[in-house]
Amino acid sequence: MKGVNAGVAPVTYGTGSRPPRGDYSRARSDYTCAQDHAQYSQADHATYRRLYERQLQQLPGLACDEFIDAVQRLGAPEQIPRFDDISEKLMKATGWQIVGVPGLIPEEAFFALLAERRFPVTDWIRKPEEFDYVVEPDIFHDLFGHVPLLFNPVFADYMQAYGVGGLKASRLDACELLARLYWYTVEFGLIQTPHGLRAYGAGILSSAGELRHSVKSPEPERIGFDLQRLMRSRYRIDTFQASYFVIDSFQQLFEATAPDFTPVYRSVRERIARDGEINAGEVLPGERVYAVA
Ligand code: PHE
Ligand code: CO
Repeated sequence: MKGVNAGVAPVTYGTGSRPPRGDYSRARSDYTCAQDHAQYSQADHATYRRLYERQLQQLPGLACDEFIDAVQRLGAPEQIPRFDDISEKLMKATGWQIVGVPGLIPEEAFFALLAERRFPVTDWIRKPEEFDYVVEPDIFHDLFGHVPLLFNPVFADYMQAYGVGGLKASRLDACELLARLYWYTVEFGLIQTPHGLRAYGAGILSSAGELRHSVKSPEPERIGFDLQRLMRSRYRIDTFQASYFVIDSFQQLFEATAPDFTPVYRSVRERIARDGEINAGEVLPGERVYAVA
């Protein structure tokens, strides 16, 4: 079906040297599109399986238990999963669904989907030559990285709250500040557990190199979660993170982000005007950082 976006150029985030891929003419007005499972080649399925297997064997000792326990609910990796199969299980567990999208979508459309407990998953997979590094999120990042934690009730509620909060941030012109929260939690978050630090962020969990780096390397800084500090912090999109934020539990994350952000944005803006933003990798005087075991 041709949607209202036919012929419309997709949105890009950050600065890249080539246009985004993905056929947006297939998308409906909410940017979702049907997953055409028959269109995947044998090579596509093989790429998925190889990515999945490489990542799965890295999880012990690096990924949080909630993720490890849920990842097999994506189904056997022999084939790229069918979105409908996963949605059926997710719906029973936490009331979430996954929906196909042609690639990155505009912020407001993204927030609106999350607010309805629908998680957009890019439906194409990287080419074999991009096995280790793909510039945009593909189906492997979106499914393997993001979907397992949607089976966790508290995290699932956080994601919906983020979507509702995003719609509000759009009205308040605060998306840039809110995006930092997404980046440092949903994409690159670490969690403290009785066994040590573990990853829960999708950008880490779907990355071959960054998973170990984030949890074990002495290089990056690991800073305790603090909402306003986090919103002042820049991030890097083209290399491993120089800073990560550590939560104690998903409940802590949910509760710390539950209050109305309207005064939070105001206060963060005032602080930035006075003291500036904080660079990735920067630690402020008196700030406690986590040691790696
Ligand atoms: N409490 C936030 C607000 O009022 C919404 C939100 C919740 C944003 C969770 C992000 C994560 O804007
Ligand atoms: Co992602």
